[in-house]
Amino acid sequence: MVSDIREFDLEKALKEISEATNSAELQVIKARYLGKQGLVTSMLKKIRELPPEERKGYGKMVNQFKRTLEEKISEKRRVLEMEARKIRELEDRYDVSLPGARRDRGALHLLTQVMEEVQEIWSSMGFEVVLGPEIEEVYYNFEALNTPEWHPARDMHDTFYLDERWLLRTHTSPVQIRVMESRKPPLAIFSPGKCYRKDTPDSTHLPMFHQFEVLYVDRHVSVAHLKGVLEVFVKRMFGENRKIRLGPSFFPFTEPSFEVDVSCGICGGTGCRSCGGTGWLEILGSGMVHPNVFRNVGYDPEIWSGFALGTGVERIAMLKYNLGDIRDLLRNDRRFLKKFMGVNA
Ligand code: DAH
Repeated sequence: MVSDIREFDLEKALKEISEATNSAELQVIKARYLGKQGLVTSMLKKIRELPPEERKGYGKMVNQFKRTLEEKISEKRRVLEMEARKIRELEDRYDVSLPGARRDRGALHLLTQVMEEVQEIWSSMGFEVVLGPEIEEVYYNFEALNTPEWHPARDMHDTFYLDERWLLRTHTSPVQIRVMESRKPPLAIFSPGKCYRKDTPDSTHLPMFHQFEVLYVDRHVSVAHLKGVLEVFVKRMFGENRKIRLGPSFFPFTEPSFEVDVSCGICGGTGCRSCGGTGWLEILGSGMVHPNVFRNVGYDPEIWSGFALGTGVERIAMLKYNLGDIRDLLRNDRRFLKKFMGVNA
């Protein structure tokens, strides 16, 4: 029986353990020696068959084998687990030093920024923001604004007509009529929005552009009031050092009508190339509301008086930022857009 023990090759078992490459393999080795049918287990069972005087020595030896194997197996298991973990970690690792995917920062378009700035100035003076339809009735766009049949703006070649009654509005002035028709004076409104004209695009024209309209109606409104708000608007929009000038003009819906100029920001009014040597730049049209316009909306022109003004937002943007070509506002060239990112932030 003792020869059994001699036959037991501990060296071989230890070698198998140390050569195991993964825990599944190790498990098979463990079963072979220490499992229920295992070699060591069956050797232990044989103790009973031995003469009593041999049992002690035999048992001690087999138990010694058993302990050695158990120790070596659990040691090897720890090593294999550690290695497996290391491999997992290497596979999962990501490189924190890699540059991230950079996202471009967005910004409001220059025109939107200018619109917001203009609106903020008029709102701060108490003008309420109202909007009107872009598809407008001929009546509101022309008739009610005292614009006669012979006016060039009414020509088929100048205006997008949908049919005899409807058109794409050529200016924001019809909002004046819509507001006055639905309200009683006094009123003070600001109305921004898109307008359309059959113009071929060039450096100063687009078939679709933006305007804003201002209307104030109350008792005893005078040109002085108009000049007052215009000065506030121009100084806040273009700078404290800028001056305004009113010159005679004509619009069917105002009487008298004024063309408003702002002093040139480049030469300061002495005359240079960008103002055509005059020292002044035209920024808007304005005037005192025509009595016929008041009659058209049922206001008594003997009681009510008012001023109105309107201009193109693109024009204001071009003057403020010295743009040479209105089409740059539509081209979406990123170099242009980037230059004006957050100019009004
Ligand atoms: N509607 C005019 C245009 O498109 C601009 C304008 C002029 C508006 C005088 C007004 C005004 O309110 O009083 O050219």
